[in-house]
Amino acid sequence: MGLLLKVLIPLLGAALALYFYSAPGNFSEGECGRRKSCGSTARGAACAAHRGWKRWQSQSGREGRDREEPQGQRGAAGTGKSRGTRRGTASPEPCASSAEMLRGKRVIVTGASSGIGEQMAYHLARMEAHLLLTARTEARLQKVVERCLELGAASARYISGSMDSPSLPEEVLREAENTWGGLDMLILNHIGQSGFTFFSGDVGHVRKLMETNFVSYVALATAALPLLKESEGSIVVVSSIAGKIAGPFTAPYSATKFALDGFFSSLRQELIIDKVNVSITLCILGYINTESAVRAVSHVIPDTPSPKEECALEIIRAGALRRRELHYPAPAVGSMLLLRSLAPELLESLARSSYRLENVRRT
Ligand SMILES: NC(=O)c1ccc[n+]([C@@H]2O[C@H](COP(=O)([O-])OP(=O)(O)OC[C@H]3O[C@@H](n4cnc5c(N)ncnc54)[C@H](OP(=O)(O)O)[C@@H]3O)[C@@H](O)[C@H]2O)c1
Ligand SMILES: *[C@@H]1O[C@H](CO)[C@@H](O)[C@H](O)[C@H]1NC(C)=O
Ligand SMILES: *[C@@H]1O[C@H](CO)[C@@H](O)[C@H](O)[C@H]1NC(C)=O
Repeated sequence: MGLLLKVLIPLLGAALALYFYSAPGNFSEGECGRRKSCGSTARGAACAAHRGWKRWQSQSGREGRDREEPQGQRGAAGTGKSRGTRRGTASPEPCASSAEMLRGKRVIVTGASSGIGEQMAYHLARMEAHLLLTARTEARLQKVVERCLELGAASARYISGSMDSPSLPEEVLREAENTWGGLDMLILNHIGQSGFTFFSGDVGHVRKLMETNFVSYVALATAALPLLKESEGSIVVVSSIAGKIAGPFTAPYSATKFALDGFFSSLRQELIIDKVNVSITLCILGYINTESAVRAVSHVIPDTPSPKEECALEIIRAGALRRRELHYPAPAVGSMLLLRSLAPELLESLARSSYRLENVRRT
């Protein structure tokens, strides 16, 4: 163990140094251009898509104010009529810009009233997608829908309700089918609230969180699959490093995220065996600067969170490029996953010692 520590701690230090060195200065200068992964996909369409994406990304900082008004009818909040079925306007030139891959696409985003989900809605709006947003708080959804229409969404509407209700997933998909006649991308992102603290023994909370964070994802994906098969569409599942590596104070949350990996990684295999062309992208996120995450953990975790705007764009990009998994921010998540497979006990003891344990609120 002593030798292991002598070797691995400097290694981890180097990985962290690399992470902070390559952390993006701001949104329009994202890390994605510097990332090695372009090398690994540096063939044909994938790399063209990557370059197109970079170009789009650097333009998107202008908030779309100077863009042309899109054609097409705009839907008003909750009452919008959108055009009928539209297959994507994929150009013969593959992926001239992968942001263009989303133009006119019909996309559902769950948990879109705040945080990363809200930011994904704004990016998709700038890309001129059709949007159906969900969360519980109607007043916030109304505001997000309004902003999406200002930013250029082809149409935008919402359904409000709690995902621990077993009827909501089918209701959401029925709405998509009735208004669009199909669906191109399902982005599963919502989570129910769960404290960042010692497990209290509340089994009822675990059951409810499983329903909200996991079972509803399965129900939404199940209801969406017939439409996604028809459009050769995509499912994007937003998970967490807590869904690959269990740290303290997140037992119920971590369990729901591990469950997502088990279910959707198995389903992906089955789709491939059945030659069903629906992609599943699992997103493994580190610490992101959303209001709720910062409020929950900043007194215990001393790290600097990554920007939610860039995170949201990377998720959409990974989905559009039909990636198997997204690791964001890549260096931090990648080095933790590597260390977990090399020396899990060391990783766990580092996690324990990096937390400000005296600040954990016991309930
Ligand atoms: N932020 C991070 O550091 C971080 C790290 C790793 C992974 N992630 C993942 O990223 C995703 C988004 O996280 P975030 O930080 O953006 O969270 P957030 O800002 O708290 O957003 C959560 C969203 O889910 C909705 N929601 C909450 N309870 C719900 C319920 N019962 N039924 C339906 N919708 C509900 C919320 O809206 P209402 O309250 O209006 O319902 C909100 O729109 C999550 O999957 C999370 O696990 C985040
Ligand atoms: C991002 O950084 C570039 C160069 O460092 C700067 O010109 C630009 O204004 C910055 N954008 C934002 C949104 O801060
Ligand atoms: C799967 O669907 C995507 C998007 O429509 C398409 O680009 C790709 O060529 C399809 N792959 C196969 C094997 O049909």
